[in-house]
This record gives sequence, C-alpha cells and structure tokens, in this order.
Amino acid sequence: MSFDRSIKIAPSILASDFANFGAECAAVEAQGADWVHVDVMDGHFVPNITFGPETCKAIRPHIKGIMDVHLMIAPVDPYIEAFAGAGADVITAHLEAGPHIHRTLQAIRGAGAKAGLALNPGTGIDAVAHLLDMIDLVCVMTVTPGFGGQKFIHSQIEKVTALRQMIGERPIHIEIDGGVTPETAPLVSAAGADVLVAGSAVFKGGSVQNPAPYGDNIANIRAAAEAAA
Ligand code: DX5
Ligand code: ZN
Repeated sequence: MSFDRSIKIAPSILASDFANFGAECAAVEAQGADWVHVDVMDGHFVPNITFGPETCKAIRPHIKGIMDVHLMIAPVDPYIEAFAGAGADVITAHLEAGPHIHRTLQAIRGAGAKAGLALNPGTGIDAVAHLLDMIDLVCVMTVTPGFGGQKFIHSQIEKVTALRQMIGERPIHIEIDGGVTPETAPLVSAAGADVLVAGSAVFKGGSVQNPAPYGDNIANIRAAAEAAA
C-alpha cells in the first residue's frame, strides 16, 4: 500500500445492500472507488450493530484494492488479530474506545495492517501529537458515529486544518467520515483531507443491477474535492 495525498473516494458499504456485499464492493470498484470502507459496529460503543470479522473475510475476495475497516467497537484489542486475519489493509480504532490507544495502535501494526486513529466530533487533536509515529491515518468523524445518512458537522473543518499542519510531511492520511457529498467534499479537501468516505452519497440512485449512478456519484464527489484540493 503506497502513500500519496491524491483524493481517494472510499464508499461505505453501510449504505449498500447487506444481502449482496460482494457484488456491491465489486460494483463500486468498477465504478471508480479507490478504497472500500467497512463499518463495524457493536451496539455498545455505538448504538447500532453491523457485522464482524467473518463478514469482512467473506467480502475480502470481492475487493481488489484497499479494504478500510473502521472499528466502532469497545473493547478493540481482543479483535484486532481477527480483522487483520480477515484481510483488512487499514484498521481504524477510536481514541474514545478505551484508555490504552497506544497499545491498540501497536497491536494493529503488529498484526500487519496500517493503523488508523478515529476521532469523534467532540474530541480534540492534542493526543494525536503523541501518536504521530504510530499511525498511518487519522479519521475525522464529521458525524457522530453509528449511522449513515447524517448531516455533516461543519465545526470539524478547522480540526482537519490543524491536523494537516501537525502532520506536515509525515506519510499519514487524513480521512473524513460522515456526510460527505459533492457540497461538503471541497470543504475538507481544501483543509487537507485526502480520503473521503461516503455512504449514502455514493450508493443513492444505483444498485448492483444498475451501477452507473455509483460511477456518477463517485465522479461528482471526486471532481468537487479535486477542484478545491
Ligand atoms: C458512520 C460511519 C460512516 C457512514 C457514512 O458511523 O462510520 O462510514 O457510513 O455514511 P454517510 O456517508 O451516509 O454519512
Ligand atoms: Zn466509517
């Protein structure tokens, strides 16, 4: 997995057909997705439940590129090996998920995956300064995690700007998750984000049988982001 700061669109399969994950992943990749974002929720850290490592393992063969696994679970550490074994390229854990994020990030890299650190909208970036050598990605949540289709929280844009400055030349991606649309994408790409997760805005209007709208949606988000980057 090589590093660059070009804009990458990462459709979240949370907004896809749960009975058809394999085909949905293949469809968005064929329609121009760069990464596939996989939202794992436990009904404890967030008030919603999706699926676990076995599902990730099942969809892995249907993804040619990067499988980006976002863990909205607590505790995290007991499950890292399982998600890495399922073929996750990136495993992102929340700073808020437990008291020992240092150990969690170390375990993710130790398991052979890239380490991501997610921040809820109410969390500041001070801790990130102490973790810069341990992370490959920072995920700025622009909604409260738990559900797709929520409204983008504009106060997070200044967080992205500050993180971009803090990161400097280090090879650390800034990912945005929640409420990304062609209207909000330019705001975060201008602030320095390079990975844009989008669920509803990618999957709306299309299906596995009719995937062309996925392509149009991805192209529209990308064009808006690139114009402002
Ligand atoms: C929210 C998830 C997001 C979500 C994004 O808890 O982490 O990845 O699927 O969905 P949209 O793009 O619909 O806000
Ligand atoms: Zn997510």
